[in-house]
Amino acid sequence: MYNDIVIDHFTNPRNTGELADADGSGKVGSPTCGDIMMVTIKVADNRIQDVKFKTFGCGAAIASGSMLTEMVKGKTITEALQITDAMVAEALGGLPEPKLHCSNLAASALHEAIKDYQAKQNG
Ligand code: FES
Repeated sequence: MYNDIVIDHFTNPRNTGELADADGSGKVGSPTCGDIMMVTIKVADNRIQDVKFKTFGCGAAIASGSMLTEMVKGKTITEALQITDAMVAEALGGLPEPKLHCSNLAASALHEAIKDYQAKQNG
């Protein structure tokens, strides 16, 4: 059901957990299954220096969070905001149709974390 990229990220997820000194954090829930994903970011010089994810979700959600963190590290805030749900699924080499909603959590949680960061910057 899952391709090798998804299985690799699911069984060996990168950047899991939560940054204790995060500059921004975002949490989203899936309206489809009720699962949750949280993304925390550390920003310096307008770039995502570090990122971690945590999810109460299925294997596809874990793989999506893991892939997202690899995609976003080192990107500027503007570049990070351009990462879409579809781009995460595509980077994973695609997901089975019933699992596409799981990959939607990752980019959405990242965007929430960036919003949180920007809100803090603006006081
Ligand atoms: Fe809920 Fe995949 S079934 S995140």
